[in-house]
Amino acid sequence: MPEKTVYIETVGCQMNVLDSELVIGALKRKGYVLTDAAADADVLLFNTCSVREHAEEKVYSALGRIAPHKKRNPGTVVGVIGCMAQKDQEKIRARAPYVDMVVGTGQLGQIPALIDAVKETRQPQYALSLGRSDGGRHEVEASFESYDPVRDAAMRPTPFQAFVRIQIGCDKFCTYCVVPSTRGPEQSRHPDHLVAEVRQLVDQGCKEVTLLGQTVNSYEYALGDGRRSRLSDLLARMHDTPGLERIKFVTNYPKDMTDDLLDAVHELPKVCKYLHVPVQSGCDEVLSRMKRNYTASFYMEMLARCREMVPGVAVSSDFIVGFCGETEESFQKSMDLVAKAKFKNSFIFKYSERPGTKAMDRFPDDISEDVKKRRNNDLLMVQNANSLVDHRAWIGRTVEVLVEGPSRHGHREAGPVKQLIGRTMTDHITVFDGHDRLVGQTVTLDVTDASAFTLYGTVRTGEQVGVTCAAEPAPREEGAKRIGLALV
Ligand code: SAH
Ligand code: SF4
Ligand code: F3S
Repeated sequence: MPEKTVYIETVGCQMNVLDSELVIGALKRKGYVLTDAAADADVLLFNTCSVREHAEEKVYSALGRIAPHKKRNPGTVVGVIGCMAQKDQEKIRARAPYVDMVVGTGQLGQIPALIDAVKETRQPQYALSLGRSDGGRHEVEASFESYDPVRDAAMRPTPFQAFVRIQIGCDKFCTYCVVPSTRGPEQSRHPDHLVAEVRQLVDQGCKEVTLLGQTVNSYEYALGDGRRSRLSDLLARMHDTPGLERIKFVTNYPKDMTDDLLDAVHELPKVCKYLHVPVQSGCDEVLSRMKRNYTASFYMEMLARCREMVPGVAVSSDFIVGFCGETEESFQKSMDLVAKAKFKNSFIFKYSERPGTKAMDRFPDDISEDVKKRRNNDLLMVQNANSLVDHRAWIGRTVEVLVEGPSRHGHREAGPVKQLIGRTMTDHITVFDGHDRLVGQTVTLDVTDASAFTLYGTVRTGEQVGVTCAAEPAPREEGAKRIGLALV
């Protein structure tokens, strides 16, 4: 067994998947090898999420599971990193006193040194940023470092796709949400650094980048002399990168969906015609209690503008059901909105009260779990009916798909022809049979069938069975897939 091995479990959003990639990349440069087996590892990391209680409980139960292993092997270093670490240092200490290291989202760069410190001193190590009210804006900002070191293709679930963080933090302070506390103040990264990072990724064989920000369309960097770089400017610059095929960006805030951005999405062929713009609720009173700063009719007008300015754009959304004070009447408004909006898909969450949020201080969590569950199902039913109509409208059309790998549900054939999965420029998941050499390639498919969640297609004749594909996909580090697996 190699001398230094590290195991990581990741829950949460794409930001966390990226953070795990970067942390493991940094440890690899210090001689660590990533392992899939917790029992073999001498460093165990849990990259955590606080957005809902369920996400936190998942981490506490994982910590419980490894407790006996840590007892038998006291030299093993156990680290809790990410959003929960930033928010709940005390609670982690109380519930899992054997944890050696608690590292917030703004201190991830220190992990290799902190592991060494644990090994040398056998003392627990803590590295956290300031709370949002623990200092002046600049002080708090400075305590959250954007962690974006050298990229390592072998550490990504697929070497031809990469996340790029263009912004850290969030300043919207929706009343239900912990993210402004766990990720700190909103700060955009310098466009020159981002363009260089994309170039480096493309040099490593990357074809698709997904730009990440909690409110990614609020991206703005002051360049001096009153000049500023907005997301539309950044997209135009990245678009010029030779070899790059696709650019996506998530997640959008409805109020910041400006015309210059929609123009850029329309005009730049490499930019995916896909917008994730969460609405959260269809009821104005609920939106106001959530402090989303828009009304349902504002949202619908924004949606119409997206569709008018970017013909054929696919839009998806998030909803929270059972938020404080959501009556049957207010819920019905979410049902009406989802029926009308015709989203490609929606992520629907039951409200989870979060300590430290304004909603918890101001409003009682007064909707029962049963009612939340029912509303979740009801909303999902309407959304799924619309998703089916949306997907079936693609039957008979031709799509370009970036092939991501074998379909997880596909039957395991022995030969090289497999059921493969990829995404269209509108983010539609597509399944088809093809040679596994097509992984990482863009192929043209005829869509022959569709369910509410998937398009089914056949490879256009002439591109059959991988003959157009020159290179093998780059080899992947054993276990790299794990980093992206446990999304909540
Ligand atoms: N920054 C993004 C995503 C934030 S978290 C945005 O603003 O859209 C992802 C989703 O989790 C949110 O869109 C919201 O629908 C949901 N969410 C956030 N806090 C929640 C809570 N306390 N309970 C239930 N769902 C929540
Ligand atoms: Fe949370 Fe709102 Fe910020 Fe999204 S915009 S991260 S929901 S506070
Ligand atoms: Fe993401 Fe969860 Fe943190 S959603 S930003 S990992 S609280």
